[in-house]
Amino acid sequence: MCGIIAFKSLNGLDVNEIIVKGLKRLEYRGYDSFGFAYPSGSEVEIMKKVGKIGDFSSEPVIAKIAIGHTRWATHGKVSEANAHPHLSQNNKVVVVHNGIIENFQELKDFLVKKGYAFRSETDTEVIPQYMQFFMDSGKDFKEACRLAFNKIEGSFAVVAMNNNELVGARNGSPLVLGVDEKNKNYFLASDVPAFLEFTNKVIYIDDGEMAVLKENSSPKTSPKAEFFDYAAGSPVKKQIVEIKWNIEQAEKGDYEHFMMKEIDEQKFTIKAAVQQDKNLIQKITDEINNAFGVFFIGAGTSYHACLAASYLFSHIAKRHINVVLASEFPNYEEFLTEKTLVFAVSQSGETADLLEAIKSAKRKGAKIVSIVNVMGSTLTRLSDYNIMMNAGPEICVLSTKSYTSQLAIITMLAYSCAGKLEEGKQIISKAAKFVPEIIDDNKKNLKELAMRLKDRHDIFLIGRNSDFPTALEGALKIKEVSYIHAEGFAGGELKHGTIALIEEGTPAIIISDSRTRKQTLSNAMEIKARGGFIIGVDSENNEIFDYFIKVPEAGAANSILMIIPIQILAYYLAVLRNCDPDKPRNLAKSVTVK
Ligand code: F6R
Repeated sequence: MCGIIAFKSLNGLDVNEIIVKGLKRLEYRGYDSFGFAYPSGSEVEIMKKVGKIGDFSSEPVIAKIAIGHTRWATHGKVSEANAHPHLSQNNKVVVVHNGIIENFQELKDFLVKKGYAFRSETDTEVIPQYMQFFMDSGKDFKEACRLAFNKIEGSFAVVAMNNNELVGARNGSPLVLGVDEKNKNYFLASDVPAFLEFTNKVIYIDDGEMAVLKENSSPKTSPKAEFFDYAAGSPVKKQIVEIKWNIEQAEKGDYEHFMMKEIDEQKFTIKAAVQQDKNLIQKITDEINNAFGVFFIGAGTSYHACLAASYLFSHIAKRHINVVLASEFPNYEEFLTEKTLVFAVSQSGETADLLEAIKSAKRKGAKIVSIVNVMGSTLTRLSDYNIMMNAGPEICVLSTKSYTSQLAIITMLAYSCAGKLEEGKQIISKAAKFVPEIIDDNKKNLKELAMRLKDRHDIFLIGRNSDFPTALEGALKIKEVSYIHAEGFAGGELKHGTIALIEEGTPAIIISDSRTRKQTLSNAMEIKARGGFIIGVDSENNEIFDYFIKVPEAGAANSILMIIPIQILAYYLAVLRNCDPDKPRNLAKSVTVK
């Protein structure tokens, strides 16, 4: 949550080109307000605005150093005063921050007593003020930053600017350094897409570390980057990593929204997800087979993939696995031992609830396998094994392609545990071939259906077996992007209470396949008998359906495909209701607060 982009350049860069464009690329992290700053003579020029960055652009300004932020409010309402960057009292130290400073009140009280006046309601403002406090007592900027980082508690990524120096630090929130050696530029950002246009060479800053970017005085060849452990003050050696994403993957191209682009990309991403190193999959399979207790944990959409895992492992591998919401997992700590294996499922690898859960599992000696999309994310560094999703950057706040990649990997693992890895991969690759047909054949139908449903207040979705997680995930997609209330249920559950809500015309999406059809359709009959409008998602039409969406039968890979038309329906509902599909209200892509 919140996006940071900053640069330090030998020859100067256009603030509009790097910071404003970078903030647009990071907007999925928060879009309540935005701001940026750069030196102008002996002063600092600051721009802050409430709302989405949209098509904002500033006059071209060349600067050798600049800093920017897009906000998802935590402390303090959405206002210009609370938007970042924040300044020290003397306006010399400029700070942007992602995360939460848990002890900010105590720090603020101390500074207020010392005579420092505050201009915002944020927790962030204590950071530049503390830096000034240390500078006022004779420390240089780097040391003042280091001491301030040691004062603040909580999760944070911070970038601070003073004159020609930039200092960044992380503790629990992502921060990555982009290195453009050729043009002698450095970038500090929350995520790689912010600077991917300029370099794919990165240095991941770890928790407890700070990066210092300053002038290289002699010879004046390029700015210099140095890294330190900010508690000990000792230097740290870092390595440059080359990442495989390209800038086209992070741009909309001819699409109006990232959401539809990413739905379409499932034509390739499902197959890419199962292209994994065989030795890695074998090692993880052995870990599953030797474990005493296997847990799958995740949040939101990733949790739904975990729920699907329980059905897939049960049917394909005849193996029991436990599924727990990441935020609830610490309550299971008592059941964890050194023989426990925990699968952490996450697109971003930065979800705070999940990282907290993983830390509690590690305390008990459990082994961690991550199924994750973002290379270098915190989760990848905490895990014993990483299965990368290979889905490319997912920019839309909603998870779409990352969900089907997670399902493809989980299905493949279940087959591997059954000793049938190759068979599993073939089933998944065959299913992936149906994706263009599912998307192209249904788009028109789904748009028409969205027209019929766009003014409804409630939509219900039901499914049995692995269609049940699809019902939950479909409901999440619809509600988060179109703001229509939607709820998913197991087919047998509606009659235990919720059926009371069905009235004339209530839309119900029935997700069924050859294994579940008989029972799910009797549940659909119960809804229809009470006036429900029945939308069938199945490989076969049925007279019960008032509306039919065809998804070819793909056997054990069904759950990977069934969600796709519902993603498209959610997209059209959002567009027809004038909601922004890429940036739904109140949400942010990486939920880095607990
Ligand atoms: C919904 C959505 C969220 C995320 C959840 C976990 O479309 O995107 O529910 O799935 O916040 O995020 P990751 O997978 O990054 O851990």
